[in-house]
Amino acid sequence: MISLDYTFMTEGAVRGGIADASLSTAGRAFDAAHATVMNRWKSGELGFFDLPDDAQVARECQELTAAARLKQVDDVVVLGIGGSGLGPVALRTALLPPGWNALTRAERHRRPRLHVLDNVDPRTMDALLDRVEFATTLFIVTSKSGGTAETMAQYLVIRGRLDAAGRLAREQLVFVTDPEKGALRRIAREENIPAMAVPPNVGGRFSVLSPVGVLPAALTGIDVTALLAGAADMRDRCASTTWSSNPAGAFAVLQWLADTQLGRRGHVFMPYADGLRDLAGWFVQLWAESLGKSRPDGTHVGPTPIAALGATDQHSQVQLFMEGPNDKTVTFVTLAGGEADLEIPHLHREHADLAYLGGHRLGELLSVEQRATAGALAARGRMSMTFTVEKLDAWHLGGLFMLFEIATAYAGELYGVNAFDQPGVELGKRFTYGMFGRPGFEADLAEFEALPKRDPGRVL
Ligand code: PA5
Repeated sequence: MISLDYTFMTEGAVRGGIADASLSTAGRAFDAAHATVMNRWKSGELGFFDLPDDAQVARECQELTAAARLKQVDDVVVLGIGGSGLGPVALRTALLPPGWNALTRAERHRRPRLHVLDNVDPRTMDALLDRVEFATTLFIVTSKSGGTAETMAQYLVIRGRLDAAGRLAREQLVFVTDPEKGALRRIAREENIPAMAVPPNVGGRFSVLSPVGVLPAALTGIDVTALLAGAADMRDRCASTTWSSNPAGAFAVLQWLADTQLGRRGHVFMPYADGLRDLAGWFVQLWAESLGKSRPDGTHVGPTPIAALGATDQHSQVQLFMEGPNDKTVTFVTLAGGEADLEIPHLHREHADLAYLGGHRLGELLSVEQRATAGALAARGRMSMTFTVEKLDAWHLGGLFMLFEIATAYAGELYGVNAFDQPGVELGKRFTYGMFGRPGFEADLAEFEALPKRDPGRVL
């Protein structure tokens, strides 16, 4: 079960919170947003809704997993950036035991380590390539478009090393890409390299429940059936046309009201569980790339998502959240407890400033600190809401992914933007192509070169 408590978003509990009148009138805006999202889904535009039903993907992933086990694959390396990297990272942190990659093969039950290369920093890549044995490594090249510069550059480096070592590409590589388009699909066809499809109507940041996330999950032994079932269950919960009984609807409506009516433009996402640390990074991309947009009327909208982690950030960003500008909401994600917990021993009873901890548990401290932080924020007129997740497992994580993806689709409608494109990232890409001499981007190079030159008087 995933529950949501939004008491501290409202005026009744927090000075300056959302007024009852706004909550009542938000119903109309939500009705329209929900109807549009449902129509876009039914018309085939929003494929992420259908991913939990794709039994064939789960089957293909299981087949590739069985083949990898036969070959004794000990390292899986995902190459992918943006939505192609953040989902696998969030899955790994949440569902594999902490320190998975440092465990022995026996401790990993002969499941592989999972590495995600989501940048083109040569130092990281070189170090990883020195560490892995090609004979027992599977490289998953993940790019929906099949042409992203960073991922293609990584692929070329790996391919060069594989070719130099005389290794067969079709034995070492799996591509995850568009079913028809892009360079990766063409190479897969030409060289018979195994390739799984990301449906054309599923964009990168909405793709974690496609082979983008499901394949690395299956390879490392994560229960992908439960992951998809949890997502399907959440999709059913979010069918409700009443925002206050629809978790994604409530999240989207409350954040939108807080931003557009009360100037709470920063949306902090703060799990109180190390396992959910990278869910925050995944959420940040989803919320930022989907909602930070220019509207047709020339106005600019979009909340700024901020990743935080409890209790760690109580000693870092919480000072800002408490006393800095009152322009943020905080979304806590907590675990209900009941999992293995560590008791704090009764030691140093003579020191009152330590003795109070003895006999309690670490998980209890984490949970009490979350409630204390939410209470402290509320006492200073700072709004927050809390998701409580019964258990950190595949079923609940699938539910969380689906919840925030649907919330993002609603929020796009509420803000009046298309949540499924990202035109703002194109110009930088075109300048890069121009500087790399890619044919067809000469005008972009000229535009870049016409920009103001570096002023030596302003460089120190
Ligand atoms: O959400 C998105 O669409 C982007 O962040 C992409 O995931 C990112 O740009 C990588 O694209 P691709 O998967 O096509 O390589």
